[in-house]
Amino acid sequence: MFRLDQPIVITIDGPAGTGKSSVARALAARLGLDFLDTGAMYRAAAAVALDRRLSLGDHAGIVAAAREAEIGFDWSLDPPGLLVFGEIMGERIRSAAVTAIVSGVAGIRALRELMVERQRAIAAKHPRLVTEGRDQGSVVFPDAKVKFYLDASPAVRAERRARQLEELGQKVDVAALREEIIARDKSDMGRVDGPLVRPAGSILIDTSDKSREQVIEELERQVRELAARA
Ligand code: DC
Repeated sequence: MFRLDQPIVITIDGPAGTGKSSVARALAARLGLDFLDTGAMYRAAAAVALDRRLSLGDHAGIVAAAREAEIGFDWSLDPPGLLVFGEIMGERIRSAAVTAIVSGVAGIRALRELMVERQRAIAAKHPRLVTEGRDQGSVVFPDAKVKFYLDASPAVRAERRARQLEELGQKVDVAALREEIIARDKSDMGRVDGPLVRPAGSILIDTSDKSREQVIEELERQVRELAARA
């Protein structure tokens, strides 16, 4: 049972390139909820590891650096600004260097524990939340009132990523992006801790043939229907 004017957590999980972030952000705005991008937190940890020249195998070093960085958000900004060592970290988290190592960083058990703890602390302060990632409905918020799982074919996801990167002024090779996406899925689905899975009780949305606007409409409709039924 839930009401849309009460504390409510909505989770959106799924692989890269399904449009999760922009859809989650728009859904949050439509429902008057806060928006949490948990991928940005793992990307921030990867960026800090790169800055400190830590090797991917140095789990203790990466976790210590991420803890020190106090990864969080400035909620006065829209979307909330990613904070690392008290400073806003911008689009650097989307760089090719960060993207290349982030899945490996996100596979570090102790780092995931730290991030899960932070995400729950954020939800305690922002109890009306749309949160997106890979493990939000399965591990972090298993009691969330509404859970979505967004999916799309690798080809469609590669095309979408290519458009995003072009907008950031990066050169793209769509075939290479597709291979990268497949490899990243495998890594995200295969890890022992917090793997990418379709959470029990989640609503599956295949976004391959849908526009961003159609996906947002669909999610909003589903949430409002569930709230009316509750
Ligand atoms: O959604 P994204 O591409 O910004 O995510 C970056 C990486 O972080 C990706 O490899 C998956 C990982 N991730 C994760 O393991 N758990 C989350 N809750 C969010 C992201």
